[in-house]
Amino acid sequence: MILSKFALKSKQFQQPVRVAMRAFADVEVEHLAGKWATYGDLENYKQGKYQIKTFNKISPVGLSRFPDDEYDIRDQDKEAANAHAILLRSHKLQESDVPQTVRAIARCGAGTNNIPVPRMTELGIPVFNTPGANANAVKELVLCGMLLGSRRIVDGVNHMKSLGEQGLARERVEKDKAMFGGRELKGKTLAVIGLGHIGSMTARDAESLGMKIKGYDPGLSVGSALKLPNTIDLADSMAAAVAGADYISINIPYIKGENGTHGIIGKDVISHFSPDAVLLNFARGELVDSEAMKEFLDSGNGRYVSDFPEDLLWNHENTIILPHLGASTEEAEDAAASMAADTIINFLETGTIVNSVNFPNTSLPDRPEGAVRFTVVNSNVPGVLAKMTEAFAAEKLNILQQINQSRGDIAYNVLDISTEGHDDVLSFKGVQEKITMIDGVVSTRIIYGTPGKGYAKNIEGVYFI
Ligand SMILES: NC(=O)c1ccc[n+]([C@@H]2O[C@H](COP(=O)([O-])OP(=O)(O)OC[C@H]3O[C@@H](n4cnc5c(N)ncnc54)[C@H](O)[C@@H]3O)[C@@H](O)[C@H]2O)c1
Repeated sequence: MILSKFALKSKQFQQPVRVAMRAFADVEVEHLAGKWATYGDLENYKQGKYQIKTFNKISPVGLSRFPDDEYDIRDQDKEAANAHAILLRSHKLQESDVPQTVRAIARCGAGTNNIPVPRMTELGIPVFNTPGANANAVKELVLCGMLLGSRRIVDGVNHMKSLGEQGLARERVEKDKAMFGGRELKGKTLAVIGLGHIGSMTARDAESLGMKIKGYDPGLSVGSALKLPNTIDLADSMAAAVAGADYISINIPYIKGENGTHGIIGKDVISHFSPDAVLLNFARGELVDSEAMKEFLDSGNGRYVSDFPEDLLWNHENTIILPHLGASTEEAEDAAASMAADTIINFLETGTIVNSVNFPNTSLPDRPEGAVRFTVVNSNVPGVLAKMTEAFAAEKLNILQQINQSRGDIAYNVLDISTEGHDDVLSFKGVQEKITMIDGVVSTRIIYGTPGKGYAKNIEGVYFI
């Protein structure tokens, strides 16, 4: 096997990262042991770029986050045998869609049930989502729902249409307004159940409309707490939150099974509603017990406004049911695609993990100048970290900083290694090979500059680079 050596002068490391990238672009990736193989379809591989495979139509605003000179975007029809990451919306991802080079998958949206997440975890691939990217769109529809539930707007619009068809619109426009009287939001009380991305924004904006805000969320995060209006009255139970409220917005996840949230707005909770309370459900239909809700609507002036149709409720005179429109805005699609793209860029370029559904949050401070960054995915078993550290020590490589995190069966490491005294890139490739071959290691990467290089994988005894 021919070795293509590239002696990297240490002074090159002192130059800005982008200059170092160019230097590494010329390095042929071959290995002493001869056990390593090239991967994918090198004829179509643009060296010096990360290759991103996309499924579905991804918002151009999101795709524009990938700088052209470092990212090669290949959409559904284009060959992408060397993809480093996959970006998708609702495509039902099969394992065969995932080339061996893939190191990350991001869904533009919150749910990931179109992705075989447990299998991706086995392959050492973090799956990311975009929590909260559509929160503003949903919050705006909740505010709209409050107005729809207050002012008989829908009935009024339908009435005017019917009058117009009869040629009576002008004649009756003033006379009939008494039929559609309503109430104002100002001074009323809104109870927000679930103060996450959507709930916290709803609480904040409703307060600015002059409403009094109550809230209930036993799992309130610090990030969400900081967004809440400081006048919010936090209740210690759902019943206490809804009691006396004029409007109730539920913004919690639907969780099946025991201790889940199926039918959580049931008879018990509804018994604490004021008779004219308006329930806003822009979370999930299954959270509300339809029979109990129908009984409530039958017996009083309460209303139900939702973007989830339910057989018992969609046609009730006191309900306003919309199609599932909560997140259907251009801005929400742009925000989700942008967030997914940023997450992938951050992961590929720095190894940082945020918003993953199967990997631990992991973030190391910026790579010091003159350092190469190793990332290692391994099974969460004792001894792997020690062997890794030994491998660096054996090569006289100094670890400048490192982080090791785990989640379930998987562990993830990011290590910055000093390049001092090591002016030949092969010394790093050698240690990468050793680490990749440690029992329990699933895959490794070196982040040293050139986009799309420094990949290795150790799954089922096959080594790729
Ligand atoms: N209508 C739509 O188109 C649409 C779009 C996006 C999201 N959603 C729904 O809205 C829900 C909320 O979205 P988000 O982005 O704000 O989620 P989020 O994860 O940011 O917030 C959910 C909050 O609910 C809290 N919570 C969970 N169980 C609770 C309980 N039993 N009682 C009180 N609080 C509880 C959690 O602690 C968390 O703070 C999602 O789960 C989703 O089902 C609907």
